[in-house]
Amino acid sequence: MPTERQLHLGLMFWATGTHAAGWRHPDARADAAYDIDLIQEVTAEAERAKFDFVFLGDRLASDPSLQYSNPAQISRLEPFATATAMAAATTRIGVVVTANPTYSDPYSIARLLASLDHVSAGRAAWNLVTGADTAAAFNFGREEHWDTAKRYAWAQECLQVVRDLWDSGADAGSGPRPLGHRGTYFSVDGPLDVARPPQGQVVLFNAGTSDQSRELSAREADIVFAGMQPTFALRQAYYADIKERADRYDRADQVTILPGLTPIVAPTTEEAVELYDLLNSLLVLDPEEEPGELVRKGGIGEGHRRNLSSASRVFGVELRGNDLAAEVPAETLAAVSEEGALRLAEITRLTRRTVDGPRRITYGDLVHAAPSELSHTVVGNPEEVADMIQEWFEGGAADGFNIYPAYVPGSVTAFTELVVPVLQRRGLYRKDYTGSTLREHLGLPVPPRRPSPTSAVRSTD
Ligand SMILES: Cc1cc2nc3c(=O)[nH]c(=O)nc-3n(C[C@H](O)[C@H](O)[C@H](O)COP(=O)(O)O)c2cc1C
Repeated sequence: MPTERQLHLGLMFWATGTHAAGWRHPDARADAAYDIDLIQEVTAEAERAKFDFVFLGDRLASDPSLQYSNPAQISRLEPFATATAMAAATTRIGVVVTANPTYSDPYSIARLLASLDHVSAGRAAWNLVTGADTAAAFNFGREEHWDTAKRYAWAQECLQVVRDLWDSGADAGSGPRPLGHRGTYFSVDGPLDVARPPQGQVVLFNAGTSDQSRELSAREADIVFAGMQPTFALRQAYYADIKERADRYDRADQVTILPGLTPIVAPTTEEAVELYDLLNSLLVLDPEEEPGELVRKGGIGEGHRRNLSSASRVFGVELRGNDLAAEVPAETLAAVSEEGALRLAEITRLTRRTVDGPRRITYGDLVHAAPSELSHTVVGNPEEVADMIQEWFEGGAADGFNIYPAYVPGSVTAFTELVVPVLQRRGLYRKDYTGSTLREHLGLPVPPRRPSPTSAVRSTD
């Protein structure tokens, strides 16, 4: 029975995959980040599956230690150039580009996004992030990454100027008009040298976790790219919090909340678990005793390396010296810490191996048990994955998902070919596009061009 409310799906595009060992899968392409043919083909596959958008994250620094957590972020193409090529290979799917106002200025952001919206005929979106990397500061002549309050005050004014610049560009009915913005951080005369975007206002995503980020999402964002919450109750609470905040701006029904989801899917549960085990077996482990501070991202959680020594600390029991493939005795697992017990439940959910059943948790499982900050992992057959999606969607935890493919292109096609048809059969997901712009996919009208934001400068209308 089709429901009226429909899921929204996006593709988180890191060309070498979002599993830390995804690039090492035998069918993955380790050089995919620079293969524009492959990038275009994967975008076209997401369009064939009627995805709302393809999403390009970004960082403004390279960090070799990311090889342990997210190697796709070490080196890649710049997002605007990539998005233009993605748009050229497709006609319907939205293209979402991350741009960080902390390290850019509103005029540049406004003209890049307005141009992408024209090039893609109304399919562009801006993922506004304020960044979490000190390393980025050192690439832009700064001595520190600003604190949260400064980043968001800056971002809010930048966004206001960008929106005014989009409205300052000429449209079908009227000519360009100056802006005369004189604010706390920016002074911008305008008008923009690009005509008003086809979507009027380019679709806005926001990704962040702080109170300031939630507030910006509620007031301004069309899509909130939700950070990970550890329990279902907390996911519901996060969802309700954003909706309640948005309600204060009278726009609760205009904000779409999409968490990240890493589906490890195969025709049968056994094959899906096998794939999950294969990916984990390809993870690069750390030497057991390595001197130096434990500050690296990745491993089995912030600050921990990926080895049995770290796992011993996290689980609170002695694990060193054991074969990773061996089963862990039930009495060892009975003695784990509170944090360890939560991780055991998670391991069982993903691997179907248990503390004392016929298939037992292995030492390797304990080393691989890294909770992700960005996406929820589900391992299963197509019906099981669809069940999880439906549960979150109908349980007040999500309006859809940004899909993180573990490896590329295999995890993309596994989802589009196996799971999307199940969601369509259940009436949860569109069988075809009903519009051609991203706003249309999201059910959002083109906002009218607002009156000139300033009286200080004479309009040229
Ligand atoms: C789901 C999600 C995706 C994010 N993607 C990016 C990104 O692509 N580039 C980036 O610089 N920061 C990204 N961030 C980080 C945010 O910019 C933000 O700075 C960080 O989460 C800290 O949160 P806060 O700014 O709300 O304190 C992302 C955050 C979340 C939660």
